[in-house]
Amino acid sequence: MKIILLGPPGAGKGTIAKALMQHDGSVQISTGDILREAIAAGTELGKQVEAVMAAGDLVTDELIMEIMEQRLQQEDCKQGYLLDGFPRTIPQAEALKALLAKLGEKLDCALELDIPRDVIIDRLTTRRTCTNCGEIYNVKTKPPTVEGVCDVCGSQIVQRDDETEEAIENRLQVYNQLTAPLVAFYRDEGLLVSVPGSDIDSVMEAIRNRI
Ligand code: AP5
Ligand code: MG
Repeated sequence: MKIILLGPPGAGKGTIAKALMQHDGSVQISTGDILREAIAAGTELGKQVEAVMAAGDLVTDELIMEIMEQRLQQEDCKQGYLLDGFPRTIPQAEALKALLAKLGEKLDCALELDIPRDVIIDRLTTRRTCTNCGEIYNVKTKPPTVEGVCDVCGSQIVQRDDETEEAIENRLQVYNQLTAPLVAFYRDEGLLVSVPGSDIDSVMEAIRNRI
């Protein structure tokens, strides 16, 4: 499967990507995770994007396309991929379209996780993420077995740097302004599939029925 996961912060893109991966061996490609790994490793890229990400603003289209052009040509992408957090602007969507045409590849769909704003805020303030493997938890709906410790790798789980009230508010505004227009873009391309981003089982069931 070659799928774009589209939706506001906290819609469940990462959670659904991890669940779908287990079904068919497609690889999750999260631009947010790639950038957070660069920050954790203290690379030049990490230093360049750290403040922008903590504020909840977007990294430049040029930087993202440089990363994704390389990433999408790696061997593990041949099995299929789940694009989580990319594309995020119309220029990124146009650039992806041109890149896929060049590579002779086609997307199966752009899956929109449709979710009300109050649920988003609640999910983002209760999410916890593993500092090592990126496993996603939620103190209300998916707590780890031992508080603060990742079930998968035993590392510490924390809140992300962009989970302050101010950064969440900014991320939602940025989404509405720059990313939401992608819904119409992919509808016009005949690729849009919308599912309500309610509980995980219902989302997975809706996806199975629609794809
Ligand atoms: P990114 O990491 O992509 O963050 P985001 O889009 O803000 O989305 P989140 O990761 O916060 O939410 P999610 O939809 O993955 O939800 P999750 O599954 O965790 O981007 C971060 C930053 O990187 C950006 O702000 C920007 O600076 C930069 N960036 C990244 N890509 C870029 C790009 N292409 N261009 C420019 N800049 C870029 O779920 C949230 C919580 O809800 C969890 O606790 C989970 O357990 C729970 N949950 C999820 N689904 C369900 C469900 N169905 N039912 C109940 N609980 C659920
Ligand atoms: Mg995510």
